[in-house]
Amino acid sequence: MSSGLALAPTPQGARVEPIASQPVPFSEVKAAMDAIIGRWTAQRGREPDLDVHFGDIRWGTPEQLLNSNAFGYDLIAPELRGNGRADETSLIRVLTGTGGMPRMPLGGPYATDQEVATIRNWINGLPPTPRKSAATTEPGLAPLASSLRPVAAVGPMPPAPASHRRLV
Ligand code: HEM
Repeated sequence: MSSGLALAPTPQGARVEPIASQPVPFSEVKAAMDAIIGRWTAQRGREPDLDVHFGDIRWGTPEQLLNSNAFGYDLIAPELRGNGRADETSLIRVLTGTGGMPRMPLGGPYATDQEVATIRNWINGLPPTPRKSAATTEPGLAPLASSLRPVAAVGPMPPAPASHRRLV
């Protein structure tokens, strides 16, 4: 049965290391983003104006990249972190020109396959972000189950007091 992991070709008898389990340090992601923008800058002889995105695109730290957004889109939406869904993020979609997003950086030169793989593997290696539910996001609402009692625990309705009984 296959383990589903890609294995590095090795001489016979050598230890086989699974490539997919190697964590990607953020320094490699930063280097990839710097290189992508560096080539764009070199080709045009000017720095890009990333403020055109009506958002905040930065990658100096993991937090900056994780909080980056453009035109109201998270570059790395929380629900796509750490669960193998990196290719669905806006960041990977714009870098590869897939999924209906314009390819970035605008006009190229574009990210290499190796740079995309580094960023993709880093996103897939992030801690998964738990899905929020109504019970945890709205403290004013008690979970429905806790406000219900089983019918058996309530017992039969006692007879009304004689003073309240009247014939209809
Ligand atoms: C949701 C993600 C993104 C969208 C929808 C998007 C869309 C756009 C659009 C529409 C423009 C043209 C704006 C104009 O000229 O008025 C633009 C420019 C540009 N974008 Fe993006 N972008 C995204 C993410 C990124 C990322 C992650 C990078 C960096 C790798 C990037 C790099 C650039 C550059 C270098 C320009 C040209 C800026 C200039 O001329 O100074 N974009 N983008």
